[in-house]
Amino acid sequence: MRILLTGAAGFIGGHVARALEAAGHDVTGLDVRTGGDVRSAADLDLALPGVEAVVHQAAKVGLGVDVADLPDYASVNVYGTAELLAAMARHGTGRLVLASSMVVYGEGAYDCARHGRVRPGPRTVADLDRGRFEPRCPDCAAPLAPAMIAEDAPADPRNAYATTKLAQEHLAAGWARETGGVAVALRYHNVYGPGMPRDTPYSGVAAIFRSALEAGRAPRVFEDGGQRRDFVHVGDISEANVAALAGGRPGRLVAYNIASGHPHTVGEMAAALAAAYGGPEPVVTGEYRLGDVRHVTAAPDLAAKELGFQARTPFAEGMREFAAAPLG
Ligand code: UD1
Repeated sequence: MRILLTGAAGFIGGHVARALEAAGHDVTGLDVRTGGDVRSAADLDLALPGVEAVVHQAAKVGLGVDVADLPDYASVNVYGTAELLAAMARHGTGRLVLASSMVVYGEGAYDCARHGRVRPGPRTVADLDRGRFEPRCPDCAAPLAPAMIAEDAPADPRNAYATTKLAQEHLAAGWARETGGVAVALRYHNVYGPGMPRDTPYSGVAAIFRSALEAGRAPRVFEDGGQRRDFVHVGDISEANVAALAGGRPGRLVAYNIASGHPHTVGEMAAALAAAYGGPEPVVTGEYRLGDVRHVTAAPDLAAKELGFQARTPFAEGMREFAAAPLG
């Protein structure tokens, strides 16, 4: 298939490009680092003729530094996707694979012994300051057990990045309805792997820990280290993108969790990476970030059933490789 890959020069985009080519696709890249911008109708009009599918990875990522970042998130992620979809409609490109994120859910799913499945709201500063990191039942304030979140859970974005990822999904769903196009949103969980960019204020936790180790510093684990995530290898993410090109339904956006299905705590990840690197043991700091959620872990069953996708890299093996591989 002829494919336009946005964000092709990025960490995930680079891996996706190689996987698409290995699967026999004809890939053209568009990336700000190589002189193309998804916000430019002119750049898109040059890139799209003859293209059958767009794999859209270009985005501003991360939690952001402060509200000064809002215009940039909206511009790159929301406005950029709007220009892309409009251009796809102009050129009759009927298929979109969108890099979405598990951050659209906000807090993960939880079970209360009395109230069943609940979705707690944001944690309060007062609780966080006291080291009460676990969200409590919104009905009875009882402790909760984290559960695996499925794609039909209501969206509840908690920061600018999450809001713009959800907006991308909504824009793509509207495009699919209007044009009869096929949109597949891949809700990535915490991606890691070779070539991950070095530590910036916008980096995910795996890059931050790996960069600290390389600088001879201990990974600094926030909260009490018990926050649960699903760390998924970038090679598996790439395979999910290849599989998504054969999935979806005309006139709709279908969203999938792209996760390993084997959650770990941030503390466990720090320990595994530090041990594999041969660096200092992690330090649990008790600090917190207001935009963070406590646990997000996913059931990847729908992607297995409908896309035939299953993550293949085991956590311990992936972390060993990540410890040894150079950062981007
Ligand atoms: C991350 C990404 C998000 C991406 C999503 C799915 C960031 C900021 N977030 O969300 O863009 O869509 O995965 O791939 O890039 N932590 C530490 N020490 C640190 C930094 C973070 O302990 O130095 C903790 C945080 O408090 C949090 C956890 O690690 O509990 C995960 O943090 P992070 O990777 O930044 O954000 P996610 O919400 O998991």
